[in-house]
Amino acid sequence: MSGLAVVNCGQLVTLAGPPRPRRGVEMRDLGIVSGGAMLVRGGRIVAIGTRQEIERSLPKGCEIVDAGRRLVMPGFVDAHTHPVFAGNRADEFEARAGGLTYSEIAARGGGILSTVRKTRAAAEDALLQAALRYAEWFLRSGTTTVEAKSGYGLSLEAELKILRVIDRLNAGRRLRYVPTFLGAHETPDEFRGRTEDYAACVINEMLPRIAAERLAEYCDVFCEPQVFPAPLARRILSEARRLGFGIRVHADQFTADYGSLVAAEAGAATADHLEFTTAAGLEALAAAGVQPVLLPAAVYNLGSTYYPNARRMIELGMPVVLATDFNPGSAPAASMTMTLSIACTQMKMTPAEAITASTVNAAWSLNRGDEIGSLEPGKLADFVIHDCGDYRELPYFFGRETAVAAYVGGVCAARCDSRPISTYTAPGRGPTAQ
Ligand code: NIG
Ligand code: FE
Repeated sequence: MSGLAVVNCGQLVTLAGPPRPRRGVEMRDLGIVSGGAMLVRGGRIVAIGTRQEIERSLPKGCEIVDAGRRLVMPGFVDAHTHPVFAGNRADEFEARAGGLTYSEIAARGGGILSTVRKTRAAAEDALLQAALRYAEWFLRSGTTTVEAKSGYGLSLEAELKILRVIDRLNAGRRLRYVPTFLGAHETPDEFRGRTEDYAACVINEMLPRIAAERLAEYCDVFCEPQVFPAPLARRILSEARRLGFGIRVHADQFTADYGSLVAAEAGAATADHLEFTTAAGLEALAAAGVQPVLLPAAVYNLGSTYYPNARRMIELGMPVVLATDFNPGSAPAASMTMTLSIACTQMKMTPAEAITASTVNAAWSLNRGDEIGSLEPGKLADFVIHDCGDYRELPYFFGRETAVAAYVGGVCAARCDSRPISTYTAPGRGPTAQ
């Protein structure tokens, strides 16, 4: 293994820092090495430094990538997505443009359940093909890891089918996937009016089987009075915890301080959405050490103006995470750079805070902070070369995808731009690879 060196970066955004999620003013420190370079061996970062420092220690035969003064940074870690589903809901998008709301559409039999019907009918391979298409979209926006929820099956067989697709996607080794079981996403048609019975099925049939097959690391619940009310959510989450799952909660998307209190009580890793959380809910989450995962693209796409209070969360010292929420209903956008743009314009996060929230803080929320999310010696070489020289351009030039090349574990997973990146091989000077 001769290794890989990236030289001539414009900004090398490392996010090097303490081995924990970043809070408060720490979120503004991106650990930038101007004109930096990086050496990778065996899929991991060996050294970061100036170009001169790295070039002094190039192993013979090392592949050298000249970043051409472009921005190089860790791949985004998208800590909340729903990327395995059949069909799409462009019809509902049109209906919302005509004045209907997300809840009205759901009440008419559309929404999550319409995707469930299509996903149940789809073959596993067809779901895989659809998800592979979306994987390209993630890579093009510079994302190298996604948390992937099930939740469009809502029966044991269909949930297993989705989780197997996620497993196969991960085995493909292009994008990394962290699987989450979201059986409690909605009550399926056959249990209509019997949410309690469906919750019992989640607890007694689904959770044990998914735990036994090791198909998910986390369990999530859509906790809302009209979806999974707090008492049912608590039961599902405590059984999930007993079986060894980490906990994530869809909280307060529509109802103030509802899911957030369940998440705090359950000691969840994350509480996600938080559009309607008040100061009291935020304080409960902060005291319980729950990381907030904010999904501003869902707010934007639903045409709402109720963005989560990111500034207050940062003031409270909460290690904020930003994610896309990619799904066919509320947020059909895999683009993390678009999410960054909305975070900066609508929630007044600074570009640096938004990048910290979508890399290192997101990695810690998935229990992978010691492996990914920053560029530091010992970590996996998941990095992206972007077509700009300054990190602030990512949210500033909104609506474009900037990734030129995405590397996962030191291997080029995607070339997203036809313009050349110059690569060459180190001559026979310097130490040879061990
Ligand atoms: O996070 N709120 C629940 N789940 C998704 C939406 C899923 C859908 O509409 O299909 C969300 O916004
Ligand atoms: Fe979601």
